[in-house]
Amino acid sequence: MERAKQIAGEAVANLVENNQVIGLGTGSTIVYTIKMLETRIKKEKLKFLAVPTSSCTKILAIKAGIPLTSLEEYPELDIAIDGADEVDPKLNLIKGKGAALTQEKIVASAAKQFFVAIDESKLVKCLGQNYSLPIEVLPCAWRAVERKMERMNGKPVLRLISETARPVITDNGNFILDVDFGLIKNPKQLEQKLDAIPGIIETGLFVGMTTAVYVGTKKNKIKVLKNNLEIS
Ligand code: 5RP
Repeated sequence: MERAKQIAGEAVANLVENNQVIGLGTGSTIVYTIKMLETRIKKEKLKFLAVPTSSCTKILAIKAGIPLTSLEEYPELDIAIDGADEVDPKLNLIKGKGAALTQEKIVASAAKQFFVAIDESKLVKCLGQNYSLPIEVLPCAWRAVERKMERMNGKPVLRLISETARPVITDNGNFILDVDFGLIKNPKQLEQKLDAIPGIIETGLFVGMTTAVYVGTKKNKIKVLKNNLEIS
């Protein structure tokens, strides 16, 4: 699947046009996007500015010679590009394996169009099929939120760094609870319930935000999904 991931990451890099201000996501698929953007800057003299969604992407972008900016300077973006952990048939997403979900969601919501790059293993019939839902929580609230998740029939697990067993700390200084809700049949309703809980900063549910998904297939082709349809 690595090659499928690569072609998807590269395909979304080719959506960037001269003089755009873009949101740049986080994750191993976006590493390929960054490499392709580096190539396009060198070969095509492509000019654009990027708002990174994490400290990790910021460092990679600086190394790749991608000029950076912020949402403070550009509160509206032309496009945002990012990866995802699961994509359902309505193009709703679970994101957050890289713990960058809050900034990713803010950046995606600031963009006129939001493009997602995945390999086809990320396509699911229903969110929650293969992956728990990452939720960013204020450190002082994690136990209280954990209890509330259990009352909602979720199975929360505090995300730990495997080597040290310390909690993962996000770029915003918070913790991540990975909550297994089973199959998420109504992502919008779940998102609204979770958003109302004090201590939850943001969830990895991205509902109704996606413009199109670029899917790298096992046969090393690109499929584009838009409005519930495969358009190419
Ligand atoms: C980080 C994310 C990533 O975009 C998502 O986890 C996909 O990552 P990868 O491309 O490595 O599979 O949401 O918070």
